[in-house]
Amino acid sequence: MNISIIGAGYVGLVTGACLADKGHQVVCVEVDPDKVAKINRGIPPIHEPGLPELLAKNIKRNLRASADLFQAVRDTDVTLIAVGTPFDGAQIDLTYIKEAARQIGAALQNKNTYHLIVVKSTVVPGTTEQVVRPILEQASGKHAGIDFGLGMNPEFLTEGIAVRDFMLPDRIVLGGIDQKSLDELEQVYHPFAGVPRIRTNTQTAEMIKYVSNALLATMISFANEIGNLSAQLGAIDIVDVMRAIHINNYLSVASPDGARVVAPITSFLEAGCGFGGSCLPKDVQALIAHGHNAGAPMRLLDAVIQINQQQHRQVIGLLKKHFASLRGVQIAILGLAFKPDTDDMRESPAIPIIHALRAEGARIQAYDPIATAEARKIFGATIEYCDSLADALQNVQAVVLVTRWDEFYNVPDLLQQIHPAPVFVDGRRMLDKQKISRYEGIGLSVL
Ligand SMILES: NC(=O)c1ccc[n+]([C@@H]2O[C@H](COP(=O)([O-])OP(=O)(O)OC[C@H]3O[C@@H](n4cnc5c(N)ncnc54)[C@H](O)[C@@H]3O)[C@@H](O)[C@H]2O)c1
Repeated sequence: MNISIIGAGYVGLVTGACLADKGHQVVCVEVDPDKVAKINRGIPPIHEPGLPELLAKNIKRNLRASADLFQAVRDTDVTLIAVGTPFDGAQIDLTYIKEAARQIGAALQNKNTYHLIVVKSTVVPGTTEQVVRPILEQASGKHAGIDFGLGMNPEFLTEGIAVRDFMLPDRIVLGGIDQKSLDELEQVYHPFAGVPRIRTNTQTAEMIKYVSNALLATMISFANEIGNLSAQLGAIDIVDVMRAIHINNYLSVASPDGARVVAPITSFLEAGCGFGGSCLPKDVQALIAHGHNAGAPMRLLDAVIQINQQQHRQVIGLLKKHFASLRGVQIAILGLAFKPDTDDMRESPAIPIIHALRAEGARIQAYDPIATAEARKIFGATIEYCDSLADALQNVQAVVLVTRWDEFYNVPDLLQQIHPAPVFVDGRRMLDKQKISRYEGIGLSVL
């Protein structure tokens, strides 16, 4: 199939590269000329494992980038919209979606063959039918369901393992306004034989994406609330509590040797310094706002967000146990990205933690294996950036682990060589508390 994808960010570019690799002819349309140039040179503008190899293999063969949306839409049979849908503080911001729909509609004006438009961005239920459809119809002068098809196909990839997620999906959700739209959309995923499909309307497809993210966010805030209570009560370690929950029969199965194999979802049932990223915070807040507007208050999800917005304070509280004032205290921050294997800093818990520590007068030296360039855009010269983990641990009075990078399993050994030992706050409960002398952890230590 000939496919155009509007927006070559995390979702658009990974989708484009993977669909090209599966044999489709793909053009990624992007407004940022730097991204277009890089992609056409085979250089991914984002860090994502597996993406450089996919670009090297497919660029200029099955895949190309372009700034020309009109031509791309005219030259293809299907257009996927993968532009950003941020939260504007009150509700979902559909500016980019509306603009993309207007441009696609204008491009369809003089096109005489059937074209399928698919919303791949995360949009609140009703958006495809009530916002995108009228814009497309008005801009094109044509009718959805007659002259063009309209679908909704949410994306579930996780940054850091996005290529793997796309290539080996657990399910494919296909929403359409009619059978023809669904059948055309099915063709896009023809190379993914055997993967379970959910064929449904666009509203349900939109809802499925929000429910997926809202469930994960709820699990994290649940674990954090229980962790904070455990620490407050004293003599309870949330890691032991959650381990017992993880290996119950609902969340694990027995392997032939009797050991328990836990479901991956248990990784969301762990206490830490909070969730971030480009999806969970904004999607949960958008759903809350949407529910509120629809007359269905989302009380549980309200609490999920409130708990998350407070969670960075646990880290500050644990540090304050050791320092009467944080003014002038030199603190290493380990990890800046919102999760490992990505350079994405959007809504990373490192941001409120560093801002709060800076406000208290602490001096920050930070290390992240790959997110330093992104972090500089946020913190500028207000913090120091270290080139290695070992450098970050030099001459500090305290260390805060924020991101679960594998490299940080080396921290206990490195700390043993440092005297006097700095206070260590494990914001992810990642390391063995027995191996670090001045260990403090969320869900373990009393503030
Ligand atoms: N990042 C994720 O892990 C993830 C996972 C699943 C779903 N989503 C959803 O997918 C959507 C995209 O997310 P993302 O992280 O890829 O965003 P992103 O910000 O990384 O990428 C969006 C891209 O679209 C481009 N763009 C905007 N308007 C355009 C236009 N009119 N024409 C061409 N290009 C345009 C921007 O320049 C940008 O490069 C969002 O709705 C998001 O919620 C994201």
